[in-house]
Order: sequence, then structure tokens, then C-alpha cells
Amino acid sequence: MPAKTSIRRIGVLTGGGDCPGLNAVIRGVTKPAEDYGMTVYGIMDGFEGLVEGKAKELRNEDVSGILSRGGTILGSSNKGDPFHWPVEKDGKIIIEDRSEDVIKNYKAWNLDAIIAIGGDGTMHICKKLCDMGLKMIGVPKTIDNDLDATDVTFGHYSAVFVVSEALDRLHTTASSHHRVIVVEVMGRYAGWIALHGGLAGGADIILIPEIPFSWDSIFGKIHERELMGKKFSLVCVAEGARPKDGELVIKETDKKRTDPVRLGGIGKVVADRIETSTGKETRVTVLGHLQRGGSPTPYDRILSTKFGAFAIELAANMKFGRMVALKGDEIKNVKIEDAIANQKLVSEDNQALIAARRVGISFGD
Ligand code: F6P
Repeated sequence: MPAKTSIRRIGVLTGGGDCPGLNAVIRGVTKPAEDYGMTVYGIMDGFEGLVEGKAKELRNEDVSGILSRGGTILGSSNKGDPFHWPVEKDGKIIIEDRSEDVIKNYKAWNLDAIIAIGGDGTMHICKKLCDMGLKMIGVPKTIDNDLDATDVTFGHYSAVFVVSEALDRLHTTASSHHRVIVVEVMGRYAGWIALHGGLAGGADIILIPEIPFSWDSIFGKIHERELMGKKFSLVCVAEGARPKDGELVIKETDKKRTDPVRLGGIGKVVADRIETSTGKETRVTVLGHLQRGGSPTPYDRILSTKFGAFAIELAANMKFGRMVALKGDEIKNVKIEDAIANQKLVSEDNQALIAARRVGISFGD
């Protein structure tokens, strides 16, 4: 039986882009709450609901059967930063601070704390709300896996599974047609999805933001494979990868978003250049939001459940201003400000990177 607590009403929200495992966390928070004598309020559409006053009580029956479901039953948004609230006036977008509305709703709903499930954008907002006196607990989500304070974010390995499966499928068609196939994956400024997905799916070349690539090195690898009788190649390129002498490829900028930059397009650039320079027939596949949708893998279901159950325990023990984190095999908690201090990027001494190099994968450097 869980320890008694004076904490009575907990808000839960999912912020930023969705990712597999969000529902499993919501379930992991809500189911144990009853045993603590707590009521859970599901805040709709991330911080947008907190600003605009959209929430509903979550009971056990609301979270029953959602463990394996992708997306989030609460809805999410990456345009709802209370400190950076875009409003259209006279055809122009101006940015307002709506944090006072957050305080108002928090008080109106009689919340004792909020569990915010999200990535670095969400954790930055949590830190600012903590500074304003709100009791916040963070749960680290993102397919990008770029939060330094936790060994892994939930959702990452579900995205990696999608990439790996896509590469398996593209492998057979690439080899049948003796083609080069370039697969563009997500990850923003970190190369974790490309590295792990490329490694799992047997890519021949992996291009990541942390290692700017040289065109000659890519062409050289494809040529080397030709000489070995391997007439096809698979290239897994992170959306944030760029050539040594080139820029990031940006799809669009949107001032309304918490992060205005949307990456995308490097896959086509790489494919076109390979075809023109090597004469090899080349195709590109952009995996896009397939990586974020669908059912979480068993690993992510377990991690998300552990994160959720640990977050509600932190709330019961009044440990606020903390983010749940995986350290080795254990779920721990870290200060939210420490969680956002550094972005986690792929370093040269990363064992997956070293192993990838040892099995002959080129990083285009
Ligand atoms: O942060 C998760 C992520 O999927 C990134 O990998 C990607 O760059 C971005 O979100 C895409 O955002 P949106 O869904 O707004 O296009």
C-alpha cells in the first residue's frame, strides 16, 4: 500500500510532438493515483489547455486499454508555450506572455502539482513555471533521445524500430535493382535515431548532425562496395545532417512554434548528388511522422509505465521541480534545471558509433 500523502489533485499533460508511449505514461500515472487517494486531471493539448483552461478528470476506466495505443489521449501541441504565445494581430504575429493564465487555472483547478510529459521544450517551460511557484514534475519523452539527464527517453526505441524495419524492406528492393536508397529520418539536431536505426537496419552509410560529411567520402564508400560486388547501398541520413561545406536543410520556419525551425529535405539533396556524381540510380524515402506514430515497442511500454508510476510517487512524496530519469537500470530523478542544461548528442566515444565504424559503416567523414 502506498504511503499516505497530503497531495490531492494532480494535473497531467503531454507537451510538444507526440511519441509512442505517451498513453502508457498517462496510464502509469493515473492507475496508482487512486491508491494514494489522489485525483488526476488530464490537461488537454499540452500547455495550450493549461493556458486556455481545458481539462477533464481522468479515472481508471479512462486509461484502461491505452497501454499499446500510439499518440496521446490528451492531445498535444508544439505551439502552446505560455511564455511565447503567438497571436495574430493586423496580419502580423505578435508574441504574448500568457503565464498568468496558467497560474489562474492551476489555482482554479486546485492543483497540488502538474506532471508534464515532454521533451526539452516542455522541460524549459516547466523550469519557468517552477520559478513562478508551481509544483512541476517532468517525464522525458522524445523520439530524438536528446535529453542529457536520462540514458534514454521513451519513444526513441519505437522510432528506431520503424527505421530498422524500413531499412530491411528497402534493402531488398535496393539490392534487386542495384540502386542506392537514401532514407531520411528525424531527430532534429541529434543523430540518435539515424545511428541506432541505421545500425539496427544494416545501413552502409549513416550521416548524422554531429559528424559533418564529405561528399567524396560518401561516393568513395559506394564505389568501394561496387568493387566488392555489392551493387547497392543504403544511406541513412538524419534530418539535421549537413555537408562539411554546407548548411542545414530547413523545410520551413514557423514563428508560432516553440521551436520555429522545421528540418527536412537533406535526403533528397544527398540522393540527387549521389546520382549525379556516381551515375548510380538513386531513390529517396522520407520516413517522417511514421517514426512517431503507432504502437510503442515492449521496451517503451515498460519504460513509460515505470516513468509514470515513478512520477506519481514523486508527487506523493512532494518531490517537485524534478524530472524522472533512467540511469542504468534504475529510475531516478534529477533537477529539472539540470535536465535542460545540456543537449545529449552522439560523441565519438559512443559505443554504438564505435561498433558501427568497426563493422564498416561509413559516417561520411
Ligand atoms: O522532436 C520530435 C520531432 O519528431 C523531430 O524529430 C522532428 O524534427 C520534429 O519533431 C517534427 O515536428 P513536427 O511534427 O512539428 O513536424
